Amino acid sequence: MPGDTTTSRPLGVALTISRHDVTHHFALRAATYDRSSSWCTDSALGELLLDMTAPRQGDRVLDVACGTGLVSRLFTGRVAEVVGVDVTEEMAEQAGPHLSRLVVASAEDLPFEDDEFDLVVCRQGVQFMDLPAAVEEMVRVVRPGGRVVIINLCAYDERDRAEYFEILRLRNPVRRHFFLPADLTDLLREAGCEPEEARSYVSVEDVDVWSDNGAIEEERREAIRAVYRDASPDFRELHAVREDDGRFVDHMLFVLAAGIKPSLPRSGPADS
Ligand SMILES: C[S@@+](CC[C@H](N)C(=O)[O-])C[C@H]1O[C@@H](n2cnc3c(N)ncnc32)[C@H](O)[C@@H]1O
Repeated sequence: MPGDTTTSRPLGVALTISRHDVTHHFALRAATYDRSSSWCTDSALGELLLDMTAPRQGDRVLDVACGTGLVSRLFTGRVAEVVGVDVTEEMAEQAGPHLSRLVVASAEDLPFEDDEFDLVVCRQGVQFMDLPAAVEEMVRVVRPGGRVVIINLCAYDERDRAEYFEILRLRNPVRRHFFLPADLTDLLREAGCEPEEARSYVSVEDVDVWSDNGAIEEERREAIRAVYRDASPDFRELHAVREDDGRFVDHMLFVLAAGIKPSLPRSGPADS
């Protein structure tokens, strides 16, 4: 749920996760990040985002938590301006060549004017952020009538929630939030957007490749395998888990949730 924070758990998770913890984690991953999940460079997922956002030549696009610029690159050359913002320099410097402008800053305090962008996108970023503050910032900097799109891995539903969240937590110890599909739309609505649509995409991941992210130890990778080995029938079915000689393949769910910033401030209770 949005707002969940990490509590003390096995395998050395800290009670609180600092900004430094996040940048340290992604600095370790920066060199190999683009190869760390099949979804990173999955062109079908990219096409789905382009189809949802229908970018126009004159658009100004902001990619929040741009990382190495994999999402930014989808828009480069199609729009007037692509700005990327991220807290981890080692990730963001790889995005630089694909951007009109790169800003190293946190999503919770975006150094942009109100209404500056036509489109704000954020893929696999909100799980590390202060919520709802970061999404409120995304809505603040998009123009009235403009779109905010959040793209994130989610559990399918209550049946796989506990096991999948445990797998995600083991794979990324600096992750603070875990989502069900409706949570992304709720985040947009609560930050002031009118929900527009939400689409799903299933990404096929070889768990051994996916867990080899350069920032976690073998002990955690083995703990991830153990969750798959002991997975419930519901989890196995929802994730269409395949096992071959101790290696697992998972069908992970992405949700792409879009909202539109209202053109007029939303009315409060009628004045009496
Ligand atoms: C999983 S990567 C996603 C990168 C990119 N959006 C993509 O889809 O490939 C997460 C990124 O979020 C960045 N990040 C985490 N917390 C952030 C924050 N509070 N503000 C800005 N960026 C943040 C990290 O530095 C990292 O580059």
